[in-house]
Amino acid sequence: MKPLNEVIFNKNTSINPIWIMRQAGRYLPEFREIRKKNSDFISLCLNDNLSSEITLQPLKRFNLDAAIIFSDILMLPYGLGQKVKFEKNFGPKLGDLNLNEVEKIKETDFVEKLLPVYKAIKKVSLDPGLDSKNFIGFVGAPWTLLVYMVNQQSPKKKLKENFFKDEFLLNKILLIIEKFLKIHIKNQIANGADVIQIFDSWAGLLEEKDLPNYVYAPTLNLVNYVKSLNVPAICFPREIKNYKEFCNIVKPDAVNIDYNIDPKQIIKDIKIPIQGGLDPKILLSDKETLKKEASKYLNIFKDHPYIFNLGHGVLPETDPNMFDYLVKTVKNY
Ligand code: CP3
Repeated sequence: MKPLNEVIFNKNTSINPIWIMRQAGRYLPEFREIRKKNSDFISLCLNDNLSSEITLQPLKRFNLDAAIIFSDILMLPYGLGQKVKFEKNFGPKLGDLNLNEVEKIKETDFVEKLLPVYKAIKKVSLDPGLDSKNFIGFVGAPWTLLVYMVNQQSPKKKLKENFFKDEFLLNKILLIIEKFLKIHIKNQIANGADVIQIFDSWAGLLEEKDLPNYVYAPTLNLVNYVKSLNVPAICFPREIKNYKEFCNIVKPDAVNIDYNIDPKQIIKDIKIPIQGGLDPKILLSDKETLKKEASKYLNIFKDHPYIFNLGHGVLPETDPNMFDYLVKTVKNY
């Protein structure tokens, strides 16, 4: 059984598999080399030769237990015909959302636009380097995608003034997002992804009263869909105030915690397998601190099914030697 399945399904606490969010990315010089020659990020995601190569870069260097496809959650709005671009030192910028156009998009059009992503997944899944490792596909959660599609840029600390003005419209968009997320998930799995992670990066922006409609209900539908395809679903409802309630309602196969969560408290609150938690900034300190902090997580989770990861993506300024040291620390624990 593959390492993540061993933890997720067999509740094996004697192994601590490790993979890292954004493990294929800017902290690696070999990624920056490719990125320099490919200024358009979306086109890079749609270049199946390069995106499959980038996916495998961290596995060539480090003893990781999983690959994650090099792509982006914003490939979904791109597939729906909304303009998406990434500006240096600004982040994503999305074009106007034309609901009339989006409502007309057919499954075949969407799949056609994202075909290079599925081709890249197929290529990576056939790589012998992945034989005993997991291969993670992913999507943005409906809420987080709604945020980007309506807000048209990262909301940082808050949403547009009038974000909730037309809730009828928001719910309509939410349904379309959910429909196409299922299609995107189905195609990732059909091409070789064996785990699906659902990133809800902006779950923490919502007030409690809005969670059932925007987070719980649509995410539960997706988790059930992933489960129906016999693949585990890992949720990352970043900065949600109540992970316990989220897990009780949505019932993912595993949950990634952010670095604000007290690991000692969470093992009392949540019985399902847990992933992540370590603050990515710890990788910017020194080896001694890194070992101490990583060991803290490993000690606390020694009797709880646990997949090592961070509490958010690895930072671009991270030294790959520190990354390597972290992987070795976890492997030698
Ligand atoms: O984890 C991996 O290695 C797989 C690839 C991956 C990327 N984005 C590549 C990427 C994954 C899983 C994502 C998810 C993603 N994308 C999320 C959820 C996780 C999170 O960070 O909260 C979100 C919110 C996005 C949207 C997005 N993509 C933003 C806000 C940005 C700009 C900010 C940034 O970090 O630069 C991106 C760009 C992006 N996606 C990069 C990478 C490697 C950097 C692009 C570059 O090289 O400039």
